[in-house]
Amino acid sequence: MRILSGIQPSGALHLGNYFGMMRPAIELQEQGEAFYFIADYHSMTSVFDAEERRQNTLDVALDFLACGLDPERCVFFKQSDVPEHTELAWLLTTLTPMGLLERCVSYKDKVARGLSPNHGLFAYPVLMAADILIYDSNVVPVGKDQKQHIEVTRDVAMKFNQLYGECFVLPEPQIRGDVAVVPGTDGQKMSKSYDNTINIFGDEKRLKKRIMSLVMDSRGMEEPKPDADQNIAIQLLKLVAPEGVAQECEDQLRAGGYGYGTLKKSLFEHYWECFREQRQKRSELAANLDYVDSILAEGADKARAVARPVLKRARVACGLE
Ligand code: ADP
Ligand code: TRP
Repeated sequence: MRILSGIQPSGALHLGNYFGMMRPAIELQEQGEAFYFIADYHSMTSVFDAEERRQNTLDVALDFLACGLDPERCVFFKQSDVPEHTELAWLLTTLTPMGLLERCVSYKDKVARGLSPNHGLFAYPVLMAADILIYDSNVVPVGKDQKQHIEVTRDVAMKFNQLYGECFVLPEPQIRGDVAVVPGTDGQKMSKSYDNTINIFGDEKRLKKRIMSLVMDSRGMEEPKPDADQNIAIQLLKLVAPEGVAQECEDQLRAGGYGYGTLKKSLFEHYWECFREQRQKRSELAANLDYVDSILAEGADKARAVARPVLKRARVACGLE
């Protein structure tokens, strides 16, 4: 089984990225041949500062390796080190109906939020389809918001196969039900674009402030809260605290007499503890950037060795060779 996933280097990684994408991806590296990459080409649709891209790319590499990605077990690389992705994207783009891309919610959302709709942003799902198809991927672990892009991938792959003969493997999305959407500090989906994130790594004081700023309602401390399971801090505690802790806090909220301040403090402590080891590992890696570069370079070699023959297969199928 071949597993593939990518993440854009568009800013520091947050708990949504970790529980929605990184942790499942890291667990999956045990179950098959995993390919994970940093989608730096994709980041060009929304980040227009070269130094920022360079820094973000390095940060994502450090975050991923610190969180347990094992370069011995999986292939870890930078998308632009395998330019075959972009050639395949062209082959696919000619078979992608405009309407299919026009229906993509992620595109519509980004434009609604004020991103200028450049062609790359519109064609984003086609490059993503190429990322997936070029490795004959079977399983693509992603958050719920990316499911539609996997459907586009399957549609385009099927169209290519019908027109030019069997060429591509049809991938399946893998979405973890229990952490499908991690809530942010305001209760909406946690996302860089909503400025409601809690990052995995960073300055302790700032992160604490962030958690203490979680938006709660105005009910008094004594009041029982029958809807305690909806509380954002409870939902986050379920992710970062050991078994049972969130339930205990939930029960206390339900009973009344338990304040939001205490709850948030407890959330911060569990969150800080949850990433203790990773924090240590990240600082070791940051002091050894040559090692990180060598991992990405080796990853790119391994990825290209798989991507080249698949691209060749597609070129032959459609008559370029
Ligand atoms: P952001 O919304 O912050 O820009 P990305 O779109 O770069 O995050 O997401 C990177 C990966 O993390 C994707 O697989 C996405 O589905 C997952 N992800 C992001 N935010 C969340 C969230 N709040 N809950 C679950 N998964 C998420
Ligand atoms: N679009 C994905 C995101 O924003 C990142 C991505 C790019 C990706 N190519 C991919 C994810 C291929 C899975 C497979 O999260």
